[in-house]
Amino acid sequence: MGSERSVAQHYTHGSLERAISDALRAVGKDPNNITHADLAGVDEFHIGGRQATTDLADQIELPRGARVLDVGCGIGGASRYFALERGWRVDGIDLTQEYVQVADLLSRRVGLGDAVSYREASATALPFPDARFDGAYMLHVGMNIADKKTAFAEVRRVLKPNGLFAIYDVMRESNGEFAYPVPWSSVPDTNFIESAVTYRQLLGAAGFKVEKERSRRDFAAEFFRQLRQRMVEAQAKSGPQSPGLPILMGVTTPQKVANMVALIDRGVIAPTEMISRAI
Ligand SMILES: C[S@@+](CC[C@H](N)C(=O)[O-])C[C@H]1O[C@@H](n2cnc3c(N)ncnc32)[C@H](O)[C@@H]1O
Repeated sequence: MGSERSVAQHYTHGSLERAISDALRAVGKDPNNITHADLAGVDEFHIGGRQATTDLADQIELPRGARVLDVGCGIGGASRYFALERGWRVDGIDLTQEYVQVADLLSRRVGLGDAVSYREASATALPFPDARFDGAYMLHVGMNIADKKTAFAEVRRVLKPNGLFAIYDVMRESNGEFAYPVPWSSVPDTNFIESAVTYRQLLGAAGFKVEKERSRRDFAAEFFRQLRQRMVEAQAKSGPQSPGLPILMGVTTPQKVANMVALIDRGVIAPTEMISRAI
């Protein structure tokens, strides 16, 4: 099986729409009458969730109406955020067919169907003409992309000159040993994590100039500290929980999160922002 098929299989839930709808009903919400905010716990599948998206967004200057590409859009949380808060017209692509379908459904349910659209595709073969987009972003996807050289060349191709490409990926900080599963991979075969140095080299070769880089290690540590606290409080209260990322990560959520937090604590990996511009 090729690595892209294995990656899509890793993320495929099988009945994701029903699982999210059931979780919404359990906290008294009608899945057909929800707002973007009701999905905040489940639709941003990266360290720091919506806070991380807004932190990245603060560094991207694009006008309302800008055409923006979301590379590996997942179930569409960031695209809906940018459509709603920034007025961008977002096209999302993702390898996982079920995520693309759920992204589309959720966007229509929150009334953003005209502002966002989604397609099943690989970052290494983007289904768009040259120079289509004013900007692009990619949140926690590069760890699954074996051929980043081709993916970055594709993003460069579909960007207009001077277009911004904002990345927020988990990157390797040292050579320490890995432990599986982690949220993006259950086995070594689909883990293509790379260092920031490699990202910079590959971006440069693809025709980008890296303008900013920021390790979000401390932000991640604080995020997980607060998450643990919320989990303890939720356990004490019991009762139904708002839809959260365990829906996406499944029964192995505790191991995935524990391994990832340990790798961050040991300085092996860290979520990192990298903002570059097409030259
Ligand atoms: C951890 S999730 C992040 C999803 C989304 N960016 C977010 O932050 O909510 C990783 C996503 O990348 C997608 N993905 C992995 N490799 C890809 C590729 N080569 N092309 C497009 N999407 C890819 C997966 O299907 C999955 O939806």
